[in-house]
Amino acid sequence: MSAHSSHSRAASPLSAVRARPLKGRVRPPGDKSISHRAFLFGLLACGETKVEGLLEGDDVLGTGKACEALGAVIERLGPGQWRIRGPGLGAILPPRETLDFGNAGTGARLMMGVVGGHGITATFDGDASLRKRPMRRILDPLRLMGAQVLSEADGGRCPIGLKGARDPAPIEYRTPVASAQIKSAVLLAGLNAPGATTVIEAQASRDHTEKMLAHFGAEVIVAAEGEGRRVTLVGRPELRPATVVVPADPSSAAFPIVAALIVPGSDIVVEGVMMNPLRTGLLKTLGEMGAHIEALDRRVEGGEEVADLRVRHGTLRGVDVPAARAPSMIDEYPILAVAAAFASGATRMRGLSELRVKESDRLAAVAAGLKAAGVDCAIDGDDLTVEGGRPRGGGMVSTQMDHRIAMSFLVMGLASLEPMAVDDVAMIATSFPDFGPTMEQLGAKFR
Ligand code: S3P
Repeated sequence: MSAHSSHSRAASPLSAVRARPLKGRVRPPGDKSISHRAFLFGLLACGETKVEGLLEGDDVLGTGKACEALGAVIERLGPGQWRIRGPGLGAILPPRETLDFGNAGTGARLMMGVVGGHGITATFDGDASLRKRPMRRILDPLRLMGAQVLSEADGGRCPIGLKGARDPAPIEYRTPVASAQIKSAVLLAGLNAPGATTVIEAQASRDHTEKMLAHFGAEVIVAAEGEGRRVTLVGRPELRPATVVVPADPSSAAFPIVAALIVPGSDIVVEGVMMNPLRTGLLKTLGEMGAHIEALDRRVEGGEEVADLRVRHGTLRGVDVPAARAPSMIDEYPILAVAAAFASGATRMRGLSELRVKESDRLAAVAAGLKAAGVDCAIDGDDLTVEGGRPRGGGMVSTQMDHRIAMSFLVMGLASLEPMAVDDVAMIATSFPDFGPTMEQLGAKFR
């Protein structure tokens, strides 16, 4: 397989201009979280795993390359269709070169779990954004399981040299923050542990790893614990290769959805959107804001409920978004902030500390972008308050190597009074390579 690297791209700015009513039907790309995991499980299951609807974005392709470096044979059979022949659990190989995850925290962190549970050594690295992201949250539990950190930069940052444990110790681990990436890294390391590995989270985070473990034949027990969950995996299962059908990514669907809500006269359908309740916090919040979003033809695809979402423009009102909702909409705050800028009244989003450690400091990047567009907003501790109205636009947003910041402010420019520019759209290819054409199909104009 081949993957293009986002680091080699030159920065390319783009502006969005006020659009006429958006109309039509679009299907967002495959879910990024599930796509990363599809490659990883293909590596860990011995035999032939097939994937349909894979997100062919830079982040996921980077994970695919890393899986190849650990012994998987990966082939693209057609658009979104891939075949992975995995060496299987316990039989993965030490990579000869540094594993380069580009912009992708998910790829790097989940693969640290895989390596951490095998007696191999690997070096993890990525672009300037990934090099800023905290990795101790992953390395700490892996150390408890017996892995050794051979080298790290700047307080637990990439590049990181990791020597996995040949016989990882099964642990019971309480995650310090509700993070599916931490949970997944521990469970993936626990796959090769002789006994039960348990992760306890104070609030439930996305459950794609648990679901995929079960889909590939592992025994996983999930129980409620307080407001959160206790997930137990029985180690050393025989992972059976399987077919993974990837539903459309709700985090990518968020962009056309909010575009239709804020561009007057819009009426669109966004097809096949995954409705996993641990991913639908944005839809809930937009519903509370008075958005017209109808879920049509609810059905099950690839083990997940999906729906076609009909979205119509209408007036939105500001709301208070509780901190407890953050895990179910963690990647959607930048685009929610854009919707809030067009609402009547203020929207207060609480408990956003995790936004500071995403592909950029999203709390700061969102506030700076809103200010560039003439929108009043304030950060108070971990909360963001956005004063709604009719954004002037006209600013240039610094995207900070963050795809979701770029897409959010391009969406804003479709409805602000003046065009909205972003300094670089290269990173959009990490999660939504066809963002431009998809939005243009609905009537958006970029220049
Ligand atoms: C992801 C989990 C989330 C999310 C990221 C994808 C995953 O991160 O922000 O884009 O696939 O597990 P955290 O688990 O660190 O919150």
